[in-house]
Amino acid sequence: MENLKGKTAFITGGASGIGLGIAKASAKEGMNVVIADMRQSAIDEAVALFKENGWPVLGLELNVSDRAAYVKAADAAEAAFGNIHLLVNNAGIGCAGGPLWAVEDKDTDIAISVNLIGVLNGIKTIVPRIIAHGEGGHIVSTASKAALIPVPGCGLYNVTKSAVLGVMLTLAMDLVGTNVGASAFCPGGYITNLGASSGFVTAAMSGEAPPPPPPAPPADAAAPAFAMDWDGLLRSPDDAGERVLRGVKRGDLYILTHAEFKEGYEEHAQAVLRAFPEEVANPRYGATFTNLTRNDIFNEQKQVPALGK
Ligand SMILES: NC(=O)c1ccc[n+]([C@@H]2O[C@H](COP(=O)([O-])OP(=O)(O)OC[C@H]3O[C@@H](n4cnc5c(N)ncnc54)[C@H](O)[C@@H]3O)[C@@H](O)[C@H]2O)c1
Repeated sequence: MENLKGKTAFITGGASGIGLGIAKASAKEGMNVVIADMRQSAIDEAVALFKENGWPVLGLELNVSDRAAYVKAADAAEAAFGNIHLLVNNAGIGCAGGPLWAVEDKDTDIAISVNLIGVLNGIKTIVPRIIAHGEGGHIVSTASKAALIPVPGCGLYNVTKSAVLGVMLTLAMDLVGTNVGASAFCPGGYITNLGASSGFVTAAMSGEAPPPPPPAPPADAAAPAFAMDWDGLLRSPDDAGERVLRGVKRGDLYILTHAEFKEGYEEHAQAVLRAFPEEVANPRYGATFTNLTRNDIFNEQKQVPALGK
């Protein structure tokens, strides 16, 4: 989707961190931005930042795992700005750690509700609206580098983010022949509020009192008040926003952020390739089962490699 000016972006988890970075980058492209988030206090700060900059914005309180509320939020977005063109399924939480057999059932349910069902709800609610208006559009979902190289100790997170990657490959296939694109965003480390917001969301969805709020972070997470940057190894969410908007404009299937993960992913890919049996492939197989042996979505990402910083 090359021309974004005057179009509308609906960004979940858009009040903070990476989502806010994407929201700001969308506004800089001249888009109307809907920030849908579960934390009203973060929405208020983000909306204030947008108003200071004169960027068109609508803040909506939404739990992405609530299907009925999602439909109402999409209706409210359309009432404010008209057609939605860009959906960014970015809301997500850090999940309970440890091996999968030790995770409590309630933590599994919450992680899947937010990180996976929330993404599916976005697709089910908003993609038919984008296809119906016919003006073109794009869907991005924030998975993680954990979908490419699993992170030790983060079993449930790895599971949900791998699932998001699977969702986006499937969506890209389902959208072939339409003027709507799909990107799986697999970021590495960014300076965000993920720890605090995950505590809030998990407590709220468990029916528990939320943990005491941490000292209020600035709405602009790139501001120097953010002390924890691990010696410059973690990046500003503005960087994520720029990368996502570039991927949307180019129609990239994968939007990646860190060259540092390339070697680890090569090892992943090589392990898969080594597992194929050493036998001669039957040439009739591909001709008979054309939908099983190949998928054209993997040949669509042409403008690679992604630009470095
Ligand atoms: N920070 C990183 O290094 C990193 C790396 C890879 C992937 N991610 C992913 O990026 C996404 C954004 O996280 P972030 O790191 O910017 O953290 P963040 O806490 O700064 O932002 C996440 C936002 O999502 C909102 N949210 C959470 N659950 C929600 C729900 N059920 N409904 C609506 N809003 C909800 C939170 O309130 C919060 O404002 C997440 O999906 C996360 O898994 C983050």
